[in-house]
Amino acid sequence: MTPSVPDQQSVAAVLAAVADPETGRPLAEMGQVQSIAATANAIRVSVGLCSHSAILKQSTRGRIEELLRTRFPQVPVVDVEIVEHIRPPAKLGQIGLEAKSVIAVGSGKGGVGKSTIAACIALGLARAGSCVGLLDADVYGPSIPHLLGLTGRPEIENGKLQPMRYPTVLLEPATQTTVAHSMPVMSMGFLIPAGEAVVWRGPMLHGAITQMLRDTAWGQLDYLIIDMPPGTGDIALTLSQVLPLTGAVVVCTPQDVALLDATKAIAMFRKVNIPILGMVENMSFFMPPDSGKRYDIFGSGGAKRTAAELEIPFLGEVPIQIPIREHGDAGRTADNYIDPASRPYLETICERLVGNLAAAHAARPPMPSLPVL
Ligand SMILES: Nc1ncnc2c1ncn2[C@@H]1O[C@H](COP(=O)(O)OP(=O)(O)OP(=O)(O)O)[C@@H](O)[C@H]1O
Ligand SMILES: [Mg+2]
Repeated sequence: MTPSVPDQQSVAAVLAAVADPETGRPLAEMGQVQSIAATANAIRVSVGLCSHSAILKQSTRGRIEELLRTRFPQVPVVDVEIVEHIRPPAKLGQIGLEAKSVIAVGSGKGGVGKSTIAACIALGLARAGSCVGLLDADVYGPSIPHLLGLTGRPEIENGKLQPMRYPTVLLEPATQTTVAHSMPVMSMGFLIPAGEAVVWRGPMLHGAITQMLRDTAWGQLDYLIIDMPPGTGDIALTLSQVLPLTGAVVVCTPQDVALLDATKAIAMFRKVNIPILGMVENMSFFMPPDSGKRYDIFGSGGAKRTAAELEIPFLGEVPIQIPIREHGDAGRTADNYIDPASRPYLETICERLVGNLAAAHAARPPMPSLPVL
């Protein structure tokens, strides 16, 4: 029976259907429904979300409001407040990395924009308010320091490598003041003098990656984003041995040869039991800023089709933009989030990626905290 006046119980019943975007479990079950106040004139609820879900804050709020409005159309005021919920990450694997999601960004082919997309995913999540670390696992050709304009050598404190830090600013500060964050970044580029070639064999490669993961003072992370080198499965194998990876994002360009290589990369990740979180199509099309006409330089829609055929989520496309290359060369990759021609594409990818993570996390759910109500 529909009550004419909503009460705590009937509002709680609506909230029971809402899953936490991080764990996939009902928010109430995870102790994230902070308060419910319901009268004939207003429903006010306060729901906690962890910083892992920061990029989905607005959409989660909108969804809950919509559910309440649909269920109680006669109530003039529906107000959903999202507050911070703290649930620290568990230690992962033998190396004890404290992160909730570890995401590798790879592809079979070189030069498709893996490092650019990996940096943009890390920056997009950090700007939204998540704690993000970025590991450049391309030990032969590290490009993250260049893309972010970071230089210097990490210091060692208490036996741990201090990562370099990239300053980020919160997209929507919770308070009136702007909150500055900094993103820990580690790369072989900081450890080996610029221009010097690394000549290593497989076991040394394994050691270098394990060391950067284990011996860096990452702190507690929501996400560790790993920029993978092109091709070989060596690093994927190492990662799968030392960490339970949440999964991999595969970047490709739309032409057939790149898609063929992406398909091989997906098979490679699957072979070492790394789940595929989705596919990104980079350099999808070119739209000259002075004409607005779309040119499908490498063909169109190939990645979306391939993703559908392989039954993996399609996370989005990124057009070829001259500023993306310019920002990369100038060490200002973060400026892609200022450019309105790039920003929506990058944000969509981050939102879809995080939106798909609950399913990946459901396989190893965290312990629920006690409900507040
Ligand atoms: N959407 C884009 N529009 C324009 N330029 C791009 C785009 N994506 C990447 N680039 C540029 O393409 C070049 C290669 O990108 P990036 O280094 O990210 O590729 P990669 O796949 O990591 O390469 P590698 O295989 O060498 O690791 C860079 O100069 C980068 O700025
Ligand atoms: Mg790269």
